[in-house]
Amino acid sequence: MAKAKIKTAYFCQNCGAESPKWLGKCPACGQWNTYVEEVVDSTPKSQTVAWTGEVKGSGSNNRAAKPLKIKEIEHQTEKRFNSKDAELNRVLGGGVVPGALVLIGGEPGIGKSTLMLQVALKMNNKKVLYVSGEESQSQIKMRSDRMAHNSDNCYVLTEVTTQKIFKQIELLKPEVLVIDSIQTLQSEYIDSSAGSVSQVKQTAAELMKFAKESAVPTFIIGHINKDGNIAGPKVLEHMVDTVLQFEGDRHGSYRILRTTKNRFGSTSELGIYEMQHNGLREVSNPSEILLSQREEALSGVAIGATLEGNRPLLIEVQSLVSAAAYGNPQRSSTGYDVRRMNMLLAVLEKRGGFRLGVQDVFLNIAGGIKIEDPAIDLAMCVSLISSYEEMNVPDKTCFAAEVGLGGELRAVNHVESRISEAQKLGFEQIYLSKYALKGIDMSKYSISIRAYAKLYEVFQDLFG
Ligand code: TYD
Ligand code: MG
Repeated sequence: MAKAKIKTAYFCQNCGAESPKWLGKCPACGQWNTYVEEVVDSTPKSQTVAWTGEVKGSGSNNRAAKPLKIKEIEHQTEKRFNSKDAELNRVLGGGVVPGALVLIGGEPGIGKSTLMLQVALKMNNKKVLYVSGEESQSQIKMRSDRMAHNSDNCYVLTEVTTQKIFKQIELLKPEVLVIDSIQTLQSEYIDSSAGSVSQVKQTAAELMKFAKESAVPTFIIGHINKDGNIAGPKVLEHMVDTVLQFEGDRHGSYRILRTTKNRFGSTSELGIYEMQHNGLREVSNPSEILLSQREEALSGVAIGATLEGNRPLLIEVQSLVSAAAYGNPQRSSTGYDVRRMNMLLAVLEKRGGFRLGVQDVFLNIAGGIKIEDPAIDLAMCVSLISSYEEMNVPDKTCFAAEVGLGGELRAVNHVESRISEAQKLGFEQIYLSKYALKGIDMSKYSISIRAYAKLYEVFQDLFG
């Protein structure tokens, strides 16, 4: 009798593309040396998903679906529940949605396990199952002992095989599930090793089926690879409802939880934590930490009134402009798109006549945070010129305007929430675009509002 041949295929470990033969360069994502041979399963698709538990939620797949007119579909607002962590609620779009599959990505050691264990302990009114394939039960106990929270309702399971996990779930009937990490999970239906593309795909599909059919919200922790993408195939990100990135400087204590995809809310929300000896502290007033503490005024420092999601943040921009000593001038930027910085430098050179082309320029956003809000442009330009001219920006001053290619100041959205945040934090003047003030009652603010149409008018006002 002929031996059954094991069927294998090659998968790109970066994007999940499949090929029957080995390839040096992935045609799908362009990465080199990412193809790895994996055993592919021969079981029919319909049997490969293992979750067989009872169906509680409304999204049952058991009935054959039939098309409905969009008008006839009953609108159900999903009933969210409070995770008791204000920052997590915020990034999820206002609480945990039943049956949601949430992926939390981040570099090793950034604090993903700490965050999820802490949330599991805080939600003490829900039965939470924390499944870990990374640490032993006693290690998890040690971690929980460090934390300020405790719960009677938090269960810990150390297991990596999904079928065994589902068996325990059927017995325990948890209301929230946490999986620490998708890269350690293994499905019995697939032979390849844990963390490989086909395992990650398969186990994620099983978890998705579980979450949707049982309406149990499921949090999956995932590692990220060296490019900052979630390790494993891109399909993982397509499958889940929400992708959260946990980031920050490992040596600093602040951590940022950022939404990069959310089927149930906005993707521009931001949660901020501080890593302490007893777990993560929610930072409810982030502007305090994003403004670095300093005694005397420095040149090259300006404060931008930015907005992340619906959350106003006052952020310090620091720059250093100095004559290029060696050959080509250097341009470097931390926390801000370097191409946008180059554009602003060109605007300053062309419209303002500042000779920045022969200068080294280093730019830094305090607090290790990345800013995409164009309203920071004005603070950026002021900081650059302040450093170039060696002149300090007056104290208690902040900026919020986009800078156009003609050196004009453009209006930004939600001006009023920026103004009120600046006022609340004790700033005495805010520079804005003239065009941002339509329909705004300025008399209700005690902060002085300085509105201009052109960049050079701001410089004239500030530096004379
Ligand atoms: P961890 O949650 O294990 O990271 P990940 O799961 O993302 O790999 O992060 C642990 C780091 O946080 C570790 O360096 C120790 C530190 N830590 C604290 O500073 N305070 C604490 O209360 C805990 C539990 C961990
Ligand atoms: Mg961990």
